[in-house]
Amino acid sequence: MKILVIGAGNMGLTYAEGMSKSKLLKKRNIMVLDTSEEKLEELRENPQFDAFDDLQKCAPEADIIFIAVKPYHAESVFLKLNSLVKPGQILISIMAGVTMETIKNLTGLTKIVRAMPNLPAQIGKGLTSFVASEDVTRIELLTIESLLDTTGKSVLVSDENFIDASTGISGSGPAYVFYFMQSMMEAALKMGFTPKVSKVLVAQTFTGAIELFNQNELSPNSWMDKVASKGGTTRAALDSMENNNVGELIKEAAFAAFERAVELGKEKVHV
Ligand SMILES: NC(=O)c1ccc[n+]([C@@H]2O[C@H](COP(=O)([O-])OP(=O)(O)OC[C@H]3O[C@@H](n4cnc5c(N)ncnc54)[C@H](OP(=O)(O)O)[C@@H]3O)[C@@H](O)[C@H]2O)c1
Repeated sequence: MKILVIGAGNMGLTYAEGMSKSKLLKKRNIMVLDTSEEKLEELRENPQFDAFDDLQKCAPEADIIFIAVKPYHAESVFLKLNSLVKPGQILISIMAGVTMETIKNLTGLTKIVRAMPNLPAQIGKGLTSFVASEDVTRIELLTIESLLDTTGKSVLVSDENFIDASTGISGSGPAYVFYFMQSMMEAALKMGFTPKVSKVLVAQTFTGAIELFNQNELSPNSWMDKVASKGGTTRAALDSMENNNVGELIKEAAFAAFERAVELGKEKVHV
């Protein structure tokens, strides 16, 4: 199996490096294409990949074409691919807001996977949600799942609408966590801690809470009940959040991202 990654930016390289460790691939079976001479220089020095600057030389050879350029470059890439691809090739796109219908119409391919990664993919802790067109077989789906899992975990969804929905939860979600962390760090600074100590207090609190959550079947609500006793300090904080409607505001924020993802999908991709 040969994979072509188009776009050697943050995400393209993250997936190329992840997939290169897959047991499904033999050595040097990842081709990477980019238009930037600087990126190509770096790629040529990397023994894991074969670097390309011309689609004609690599697209026909690929079994899977993985596209990781910015959405505004999507249309020009699709139009170039149109005359080079052949039925049977699988196209995986991680481009935000670029729909399967657009991909199908512009490339002529019918085996399409649309995926939505998130930032922690860069350290192997990502979450990629993905949806596949009807022409992708069950065996191909297993292969794709295994490739996406090389950057963390993947979740197969049944409908493209869930890709936009997962953008509101896992895609944009790391920023919500950073928002919460920032506010807690600012509170720690205001209480007189140094920036260094504030960072440790907040980072270890998040790490510990997440480990607890992952090692157990308890819901976040049950954990809150465990940690907050009546009249205690944690209860005071949780009551303050409840009184200020923080939970509702977080849900509203997630829906704002979901709605924006739907809107972006309706916008035409630009050449
Ligand atoms: N970053 C995230 O957390 C995240 C999350 C979800 C989805 N995504 C999606 O991932 C995609 C890539 O994002 P990114 O942050 O990795 O972008 P990026 O770092 O800008 O990488 C894109 C790369 O593609 C190159 N490129 C541009 N036009 C090209 C062409 N025609 N053929 C080949 N390569 C071309 C760019 O070169 P130049 O720099 O010279 O233009 C750049 O090296 C986006 O579509 C985004 O929606 C990203």
